[in-house]
Amino acid sequence: MKVLVVGGGGREHAVCRKLAVSPMVDALLCAPGNAGIAEVAACVPQVKATDVAGIVALAREERVDFVCVTPDDPLAMGCVDALEAAGIPAFGPNAYAAQMESSKIFSKNLMKKYGIPTAASETFTDMDAALAYLDAQQAPIVVKADGLALGKGVIVARTIEEAKTAVVDMMQGGRFGKSGARVLIEECMFGREVTVLCFCDGKTIVPMPASQDHKRVFDHDEGPNTGGMGAFAPSPLYTPEIAARTMREILLPTLHAMNAEGFTFKGVLYVGLMLTAQGPKVVEYNARFGDPETQAVLPLLESDLMAIMMAVRNQTLSELEIRWKDASAACIVLASGGYPGAYESGKVITGLEAAQAAGATVYHAGTRRAGEAIVTAGGRVLGVTALGDTLRQAVDSAYAAARLIHFDGAHMRSDIGSRDC
Ligand code: AMP
Ligand code: GLY
Repeated sequence: MKVLVVGGGGREHAVCRKLAVSPMVDALLCAPGNAGIAEVAACVPQVKATDVAGIVALAREERVDFVCVTPDDPLAMGCVDALEAAGIPAFGPNAYAAQMESSKIFSKNLMKKYGIPTAASETFTDMDAALAYLDAQQAPIVVKADGLALGKGVIVARTIEEAKTAVVDMMQGGRFGKSGARVLIEECMFGREVTVLCFCDGKTIVPMPASQDHKRVFDHDEGPNTGGMGAFAPSPLYTPEIAARTMREILLPTLHAMNAEGFTFKGVLYVGLMLTAQGPKVVEYNARFGDPETQAVLPLLESDLMAIMMAVRNQTLSELEIRWKDASAACIVLASGGYPGAYESGKVITGLEAAQAAGATVYHAGTRRAGEAIVTAGGRVLGVTALGDTLRQAVDSAYAAARLIHFDGAHMRSDIGSRDC
């Protein structure tokens, strides 16, 4: 088969590496891809992930047999709908089902209607009503823009004043464009966070090993939120008891709810959980693989990812047995100095071979080839993943390899996984 992967970050590199070793895949393309993905796939940098017409045209021209649409934007824009309409099988939810991520109000309404545990919340389209509501609430309280906002549309406000400022920013300041025209104000939950990525074909939902992301830029969860500074799997917090309860109270009810609402979710359903004193509750759904969780989860997959993706698309997931390594994986993100604020690009990266020779896998996120050199080209630059028999071993190996890599201004957290080792 000839397969096209849409996207160009660390997560897509992890997907491409798994597809490249599938006996079913003869040729692999990636649009736009990056300097690391280019080692396992033919990259098409001129076609951006959000160029839906360009992706369909590329798939047609190249006579691609199957497309994996990985990032949130093209999914929300209907990339899977457009590919399937053109007769090209695709992995990922259609635009309607992708609202599980692209509209927080859509998914909140679904959770409310079907009694899926989550934070209590109210929806507002009118700013004055939102401000008046806040006057009667207590802090801390959470304000969320409805639409996609690059992970930045959530404010956990420590005071009512801060919450009001967030509401005004979103609804009047236009800080998130159309995404902020509607806001959710919700109860603040307390607990540890776990990510459960699930393969879902609309009939069957199969959780992958649970993982933990590290969203803040500095050690001890300080500094601003980022796309994710590191991840590991499996999560020791996600005990068999919590896993069983989550399946019963959240995953199966979500599958039922989506079907009862008349839509079929095919792809990866990302379930972000807060493990509260009252049990697991949904923080958010995403309609795709997480980044960097995928760089810690997919290296543990023993089964053929291509076979799984086809089964999801064809709704035959129940016929597959999906096997995972009995090991732990940790991924350390190397970011550009200054990220998630302003940062410089074009810094020469050294030590990539040494890190691989040390037994790690280096996933490229924001990199580009410049002549013979590989240089930085984004906020999150690389994800260095290592496996181990225990989480401690995986973390130590990943750090040992990550420390062999250098570029000007490189920043990584030094405490990925350490709270749970
Ligand atoms: P989201 O974009 O919905 O994942 O939110 C980003 C982050 O904000 C989450 O990972 C949580 O750490 C935090 N968060 C979101 N909703 C809540 C909530 N209701 N209570 C406490 N923290 C929250
Ligand atoms: N790591 C968080 C996300 O992918 O949304």
